[in-house]
Amino acid sequence: MCGIVGYVGGQDALEVVLGGLRRLEYRGYDSAGVAVLSADGVLTVERKAGKLANLEKQIAGLPLPGTLGIGHTRWATHGPPTDHNAHPHLDCSGAVAVVHNGTIENFEVLVAGLELRGHERRSDTDTEVVAHLVEERYAGDLAATVRSICRDLEGSFVLVVAHRDEPDLVVAARRNLPLVIGLGEGENFVGSDVTAFIAHTREARAVEQDQVVEVRRSGVTVTDLAGTVVEGESYHVDWDTAAAEKGGHEFFMLKEIEEQPAAIRETLGGRLQEDGLLHLDELSMSDQDIRDIEQVVIIACGSSYHSGLVGKYALERWARLPVQVEMASEFRYRDPVIGRSTLVIAVSQSGETADTLEAVRHARSLRAKVLAVTNTIGSTISRESDAALYTRGGPEVAVASTKAVMTQMIAMYLVGLYLAQVRGTRDPDEVRAHLADLREVPDLVQEVLDRMGSVRTLAQSLATEDRVLFLGRHVGYPMALEGALKLKELAYISAEGFPAGEIKHGPIALIEQGTPVIVIAPRHALQAKLINNVQEVRARGARTIVIATDGDESVTPYADTVIRIPDTKSLLTPLLTIVPLQVLSAAVAMARGLDVDQPRNLAKSVTVE
Ligand code: M6R
Repeated sequence: MCGIVGYVGGQDALEVVLGGLRRLEYRGYDSAGVAVLSADGVLTVERKAGKLANLEKQIAGLPLPGTLGIGHTRWATHGPPTDHNAHPHLDCSGAVAVVHNGTIENFEVLVAGLELRGHERRSDTDTEVVAHLVEERYAGDLAATVRSICRDLEGSFVLVVAHRDEPDLVVAARRNLPLVIGLGEGENFVGSDVTAFIAHTREARAVEQDQVVEVRRSGVTVTDLAGTVVEGESYHVDWDTAAAEKGGHEFFMLKEIEEQPAAIRETLGGRLQEDGLLHLDELSMSDQDIRDIEQVVIIACGSSYHSGLVGKYALERWARLPVQVEMASEFRYRDPVIGRSTLVIAVSQSGETADTLEAVRHARSLRAKVLAVTNTIGSTISRESDAALYTRGGPEVAVASTKAVMTQMIAMYLVGLYLAQVRGTRDPDEVRAHLADLREVPDLVQEVLDRMGSVRTLAQSLATEDRVLFLGRHVGYPMALEGALKLKELAYISAEGFPAGEIKHGPIALIEQGTPVIVIAPRHALQAKLINNVQEVRARGARTIVIATDGDESVTPYADTVIRIPDTKSLLTPLLTIVPLQVLSAAVAMARGLDVDQPRNLAKSVTVE
């Protein structure tokens, strides 16, 4: 949470930093701020509560010359989202500017010491202590000063620091949270992720735990906290600015929903062999390792947890392994019975979610093998896992996850089929047939997308509701959860997803005359039972909106509205049923006049506990 950017080069730093912040705003939008340092040592800070647009309005027309800048978009932790808590924070003399992502857990002790020594605190944040500590300790070497401060900090942080006396140096440091270096020609960058600088360079380098980066116009030096230089590999980012922009859509989410067919093709690409079977070297497991797996535990949060649930059905069916799916925030504090023969799959779009990261560390400490399924190359979770399977969904900017979830589900199906292929639990011809079905999915998703007009119309009629229920069975159940999560987070409508068979055990009491109930009911072995459940809620006055397969008339007598999807194998239906749920939630939010990309109180990458 929070987006940070730092720049040193030949361009107008304000423009570069604001451009980076625009792309990082999905990480937090409680406030925004910039600091720009001019060649003659004038350090100017501007910051403003609210979205970046507020800051842009505040600084419009102000002269802020300089070729060194740092910037921040905030997701508030310490102190409310006000102007005075917005970053950058300054020391008493105004010589030092600091932006920070994370939480400094021992800040109260540090503040007490600073106050005793006469420093005046001007914000409620934990961040400000760093500026004052730099002020106290700086003796002409900013990087050494930051290293010494990092040694005294507890918690998680990415810090980016500028000093009035160092007009060609930005210093950044990281512990537990993401920081990436952008390597340019005569200019260099740091950012929370590559979108911060993708408009200027596609060469990047990840920063590892407890490393400090000195960013100068001429180059970048990375050291550990003792000051020893650490060499590292750079990598090329294989997407460009266009991928990180709205491309004519009103919201990123709408664009990302539309991108799903292409994203699925990317996820599948290069992983299917000529003989029609799978090739997943990325798992870094020998065939014997795979045969030795005795159980699978999938850990994830939010929408990624729902992808994990879909994965459970696929792995159990195809690879015949016992699978548990756990919310990472719970798993990390439990005593799970796992060990060397357990494969833990950590599903995370960002690869930075704090709960999932800690769950990965917990699993590895118990000797389990951890596979990260993530969209973000070089992310902390991918680096700390034994292996990473990249979902290749491309940048996802909207807070609500769409193409990331879709590509995670594809990845989970691939893992399920690969384990089945290697363990011999499915005949090779059957694996080939399932892979052939997966190859058809991009076209089927496109077909669903092409039919979404009626869903947008339906959204108008749901915009005034204050409660919506979602029902599904089998793989429809995770989609009921996902549909409810999307509607909650985007439209602020109270929404709950249930396994349809469970409603008679309590939730059916929620049904009143006209309560909208969205039923995920594609053609499936359990469909007759699901139809019974639809009748049960309808008999109690529910307004039923049913997602059903083309040509299936069994549900129509019980549906007030039918949303049609093309036919596919029942295990793969989440890949199609999810699409109307995404479109519906975005359209309801728009009908309610809400910001679809930046829903209140949320941030895309949840790097706090
Ligand atoms: O980056 P991650 O996949 O680890 O994020 C997990 C959740 O925070 C995320 O899926 C969240 O629930 C979505 N933004 C909801 O749309």
